[in-house]
Amino acid sequence: MGMTPQPRHLLSVTDLTPMEIRELLDHALEMKRRSGPGDVLRGHSVALLFDKPSLRTRVSFDLAVSQLGGHPLYLGPEEVGLGTREPIPDVARVLSGYVDALVVRTFAHQRLEELARHASIPVINGLTDGEHPCQALGDLLTLFELRPQLRGATIAFIGDGNNVATSLALAACSLGMDFRIASPPDYELPQRMSEQAEALAREQGGAFSQLREPRQAVADADVVYTDVWTSMGQEKEREARKLAFRNYQVTPDLLAQAKPGAVFMHPLPAHPGEEIAPSMLEHPQSVVFQQASNRLHLQKAVFCWVFQAAWEGTSR
Ligand code: CP
Ligand code: NVA
Repeated sequence: MGMTPQPRHLLSVTDLTPMEIRELLDHALEMKRRSGPGDVLRGHSVALLFDKPSLRTRVSFDLAVSQLGGHPLYLGPEEVGLGTREPIPDVARVLSGYVDALVVRTFAHQRLEELARHASIPVINGLTDGEHPCQALGDLLTLFELRPQLRGATIAFIGDGNNVATSLALAACSLGMDFRIASPPDYELPQRMSEQAEALAREQGGAFSQLREPRQAVADADVVYTDVWTSMGQEKEREARKLAFRNYQVTPDLLAQAKPGAVFMHPLPAHPGEEIAPSMLEHPQSVVFQQASNRLHLQKAVFCWVFQAAWEGTSR
């Protein structure tokens, strides 16, 4: 009997080599420009197993699967009871018998890793408390569209060292970019993740710095990026976080301290009045809606990577 090949999972940005990230961006851009239907997922079903709410991730994955010829199946928080109605390993083994890939949004990153360990099909991270790789890669796609030379560009992340910040730090450092994050005490990037980002930056000729002062982070930056102060699952900490992050709001004035023409990015949903001044989404330098739409194209390229489909495997 032949050995079953190990499925390719995308749980963390670090599941991709820097070369694979570059290829993924090239391919996503090519798919966006071509924008016709593809057949990489023809005859395949993909379950979208979501433990938390979602607009962008759910809709863009659903459409990515359909546009590649596959069948998406959404399973919301009330339907499966991941780890409550049924143990995670059993859910993984059952779904592996029905569908060809899983996109998962859940809480602890370890829940995703446990699912992947017991699944015989590819598992893609649609956000955990630890990482949001498809967001970070989609954001790099947006920057790549705006300026094909990413190496040497600087991203200043203002705020919480959360899932979005972690994946963006890893992705940016993988491409030799300069990633700076300004956070208040106790809300820095987790130490293990900043060590990984630093190691990637050293290897790829970029830079990583964890700072305190937003103005220091944005000085001469090409991108000013922020995310919510209170992520899904942290609602009880909201008041404490509002206090801790009160000096970390991105405003037109802070953006003006970056390079002229620097872009403003946010993964959405946003909380105007907290992490951003009320006008930021509509700011002339804001690219937030381009970011949101690029999730679709990036995720189509992720499916090609996951299934090791030839980059040119979709219909031209
Ligand atoms: N940015 C993002 O992942 O949005 P959703 O939570 O709406 O999917
Ligand atoms: N950090 C946010 C991102 C939402 C897309 C959260 O986890 O809620």
